[in-house]
Amino acid sequence: METKKFTRKELAERNSRADAVFINENLVYDVTEFLDEHPGGHEVLLSVAGKDATEKYQRVGHSHAAKEQMKKYLIGELVDEDKTIVKKINDNQTVVETPAESSSFTSSWKFLALLGIIMTVFYTYLFG
Ligand code: HEM
Repeated sequence: METKKFTRKELAERNSRADAVFINENLVYDVTEFLDEHPGGHEVLLSVAGKDATEKYQRVGHSHAAKEQMKKYLIGELVDEDKTIVKKINDNQTVVETPAESSSFTSSWKFLALLGIIMTVFYTYLFG
């Protein structure tokens, strides 16, 4: 497994013919040299350059040979904070979920409930 780590932010800038990378299932691929060799054309690669291409890539249903060839272009992976949860629906369909920030404690209903209780106690104490 490659160990070089990238952030989505730094990859976003690598979206040109001179430097083209894309993300697939949290792994990072550099396809700068491959642009003109891609059987699917350079346009589609440039359209996802700098971005997360997981859903688009999976929808194409690349052949086994294509997947083998792809390994040559692997340069690393996303830093853990930027990883998504990749759910495979079937061979050609994938759903990408950003690790839900809404599940963090400060935006959960439990936090709001707790805040409500604290405020109630506080007001009762001050004005009661
Ligand atoms: C290093 C990465 C990639 C490699 C090695 C690769 C390789 C290939 C190969 C060998 C084909 C011919 C068909 C096949 O064998 O499946 C193909 C077709 C295609 N690829 Fe890729 N591909 C890569 C990345 C991508 C990405 C990121 C996208 C779009 C998000 C994409 C979109 C397509 C499309 C649209 C076709 C044409 C399918 C068709 O003609 O029906 N490819 N690719």
